[in-house]
Amino acid sequence: MSISRARLDRFISEKCQINRKKVRLLLAQKRIRVDGLIATDIDQPINKFSLISLDDQIIQSNKALYIMMHKPVGVVCATKDDKHKTVIDLLGGLLTPKERASLHIVGRLDLNTSGLVLLTNDSRWSEQLTSPKSKVSKHYLVTLKNPINEEYIQAFAQGMYFAFEKITTKPVTLNIIHQYQAEVILTEGRYHQIKRMFGRFSNPVTALHRTSIGDFVLDKTLLPGKSQILNISNKIIT
Ligand code: URA
Repeated sequence: MSISRARLDRFISEKCQINRKKVRLLLAQKRIRVDGLIATDIDQPINKFSLISLDDQIIQSNKALYIMMHKPVGVVCATKDDKHKTVIDLLGGLLTPKERASLHIVGRLDLNTSGLVLLTNDSRWSEQLTSPKSKVSKHYLVTLKNPINEEYIQAFAQGMYFAFEKITTKPVTLNIIHQYQAEVILTEGRYHQIKRMFGRFSNPVTALHRTSIGDFVLDKTLLPGKSQILNISNKIIT
C-alpha cells in the first residue's frame, strides 16, 4: 500500500487473505483497531503509517521517519553507490536496517556540496516539500573564486535561460555577504543550478553549503556526517 489513503476493508481483506464479508463481520465484532481505537467503518481511510491490529495481532505498524542530516562534502545523495559513501551509509546505528531501507532523499545535493539533507519514508511529506507548486525556499551559502558585485543580484533575480532544459530559472534571491560570499535562495532545484548560474559570470563556486529547506534549518550543533530524528513538528526527539 502506498502513502495514499486506502480503505480499511480492502486492506484487511488483502493482508489477511479473507473476503470482505468476513472483514465486515470482524468490524461488527469490534475485533479490529486502528491507532488503538476500535474500527467499525469499512470506509475508514487509513495510510501506510496507521497502526492496525486484529485482536492481539499487529497487521501493520510502520513508523513515519523524518531525518535531518548534515551532509559532508564527498558523500553522495543516493541510496547505493559503488565509489562513494552514501547518505544512507552515514546513518549508521541511528535506525534499523529495515528503517534505513525505507528512506528516500528529499532534494539531493551534489557530491561536493555540504549541508542540510532531509530523509524520510513519508512520500506525501517529501512531495509537499519538493513540489514546484509549494515554492519552498532553499537557502545556500556560496563561496566564489572571484569577487562578486551588484550585477549578479539583477541577473539572478531576472532568471537565466538553460538551453539544455529549455527553461528559464525562476527568480533567485542573492544577498552579498562579502566580495567572495553570498546567500542564495532558490525555490526550485535545477541540475547544478547554483554552479551554472555563477558559471555565467565565469566565476567558479569553491564551496556550497545548504543551510535550510523551508522551515527546516540545519541545526548548528549537528556536526558534518551526523543526523537527528525529527518529529513532524520539527522537534528533535532523539
Ligand atoms: N546547486 C548546485 O549547483 N549544487 C547543489 O548541490 C545544489 C544547488
